[in-house]
Amino acid sequence: MKGVILAAGKGSRLYPVTRVIPKPLLPMANRTTLEYAFDRLKDIGISEICIVVGENEPQMREALGDGSAFGIRLSYVRQEEPKGLAHAVGFAKDFVAGDSFVLYLGDAIYSSGFKKFAERFKESGCANLNVVKAVPDPSRFGVANVDGERIVKLVEKPKVPESNLAMAGLYFFGPQIWDVLPNLQPSARGEYEITDAIQIMINKGELVLAGVFEDVWFDTGTLDSYLETTEFLIDGGILIDPSATVQGEVGKMVVVGAGASVECQSIEDSVVLPGAHVKVAGKIRHAILAGPVLSDGDIENTILHGDYVG
Ligand code: DAU
Repeated sequence: MKGVILAAGKGSRLYPVTRVIPKPLLPMANRTTLEYAFDRLKDIGISEICIVVGENEPQMREALGDGSAFGIRLSYVRQEEPKGLAHAVGFAKDFVAGDSFVLYLGDAIYSSGFKKFAERFKESGCANLNVVKAVPDPSRFGVANVDGERIVKLVEKPKVPESNLAMAGLYFFGPQIWDVLPNLQPSARGEYEITDAIQIMINKGELVLAGVFEDVWFDTGTLDSYLETTEFLIDGGILIDPSATVQGEVGKMVVVGAGASVECQSIEDSVVLPGAHVKVAGKIRHAILAGPVLSDGDIENTILHGDYVG
């Protein structure tokens, strides 16, 4: 089995930081976001991984290389425009070459692995097994209606969800997926949806299963979710790289990356990325800071990158 990671999105909900650092490379508790994905795939015996990249390709290649530094073999394919997950996965067809594969959305982080889902996928012989998670706000996600273990209907971001099971960004596929991609039409939001591709497989009578994930899953794409994930990864504590300097009162959930310097009255619930120089007269709270940041007042509830003077 092979691995395909989708990492071609623009990460616009984390602008301006992700204009400079591609979101898949953004440090999460001082580790590149994608390293967590590599670990989860290695966990289930996958070492051949293809990353679908976009305009971030040069930075991605430079940071991740051939994967040997992470104990995997990495290759890259390029999706010029982020036209949807089903469009993106299509670029990995030659890499997968008829094998089965795991599709991993590059911005997802999970607190535990997928061994039982990998085993169930193999033993069931199904065309597709989707990891789903019961969530309180399913309308932000693809939503699965199930009959026992079988998925009978999928809707992308429904206004009125018919179940609380969100598609949790991790999919096991057999080769059947390649037959449905060429006929796919863009959705109302103009994207080629992986949920629509799976629905076509269901309509054709293929066996499509759900595997319910009981542990913690984060979709890390916004300020709030990035900080929430970081808090989880460092257990609500403090992680200051030995090469960083911090002057000011340090509260709960603070990460300061290598070579960064921070001068402030106090800092909490915030991440200062490697190499950032931050001089703030007031308090820093609920923020991601990168590059030089200078402020006479407080910094709160924001993402700043570079040459900020406020
Ligand atoms: O987070 C889980 C949800 O992910 C699922 O519940 C939905 O069914 C699924 O459609 C997807 O929804 P999002 O709208 O949240 O997907 P997003 O645009 O955030 O993209 C997910 C990842 O895929 C992200 O790492 C960027 C990458 N991507 C996205 C698009 C649209 C690509 O590589 N190419 C693309 O064209």
